[in-house]
Amino acid sequence: MQRTRLLLITGLVTVALAAGLALHAQHTNAPAPSSSKTNTHQTSFDKTKYSTTDPASLWAIVNKQHPINPQTYAPTDLTSVGNSQLMRAEAAAALSQMFADAKTAGYTLVADSGYRSYSDQVAAYGSLVKAYGQTYADTVSARPGYSEHQTGWAVDIGSGNCNVADCFGTLPAGKWAQTNAWKYGFILRYTQADSAATGYSAEAWHFRYVGTSLSTELHKENIPTLEQFFNVSGGATYKPVS
Ligand code: DAL
Ligand code: ZN
Repeated sequence: MQRTRLLLITGLVTVALAAGLALHAQHTNAPAPSSSKTNTHQTSFDKTKYSTTDPASLWAIVNKQHPINPQTYAPTDLTSVGNSQLMRAEAAAALSQMFADAKTAGYTLVADSGYRSYSDQVAAYGSLVKAYGQTYADTVSARPGYSEHQTGWAVDIGSGNCNVADCFGTLPAGKWAQTNAWKYGFILRYTQADSAATGYSAEAWHFRYVGTSLSTELHKENIPTLEQFFNVSGGATYKPVS
């Protein structure tokens, strides 16, 4: 009787072990969980969606290596951003929302300089050359035909008595702008750390509208310049207009 029970138990254990082994084998042989399910939710950023060479494009790259072509290009949908300044309509709407939200947060922001025509830039650059010499002027101002301001996508933002000046970067209002600009489609274009890529010294006040899809991507990936993101040349050396 005892022997029968022992045999029965041994048999049961063997069956259980065999079943366990079979299950294990099934498990290890099973294909790895498909990752395609999660991949379908990942969207890769399409860097070719907009031109980087057309001055009318949201992603136009304008720097010392990439002059505006044609040189006297002017946008057609310029809209007021207050303070007698203009920007492209889409950028103007985004700036207006940003300024309204800044106001709610307790900060007053103003557009010191928006769109500048080719001839405006002749005057702006020329007066700096006259006052400080060309070498210095080239670190702080674009030559005519090489300024983002001519696209209507750039704006110099100021607050209180701090206008187009380093102090903007240290003001609470300026810090708010730097922290929040990407949410509205703007990027801080010229920082000291990126001057080799951009070709300009730091401008705490100069913001460039690129739209929220790109500004969000740059923010998320922690990429500071358009030159780096699009792998486009820049820097301090001027390329002559061809
Ligand atoms: N200050 C910037 C570089 C411009 O003149 O466009
Ligand atoms: Zn500027």
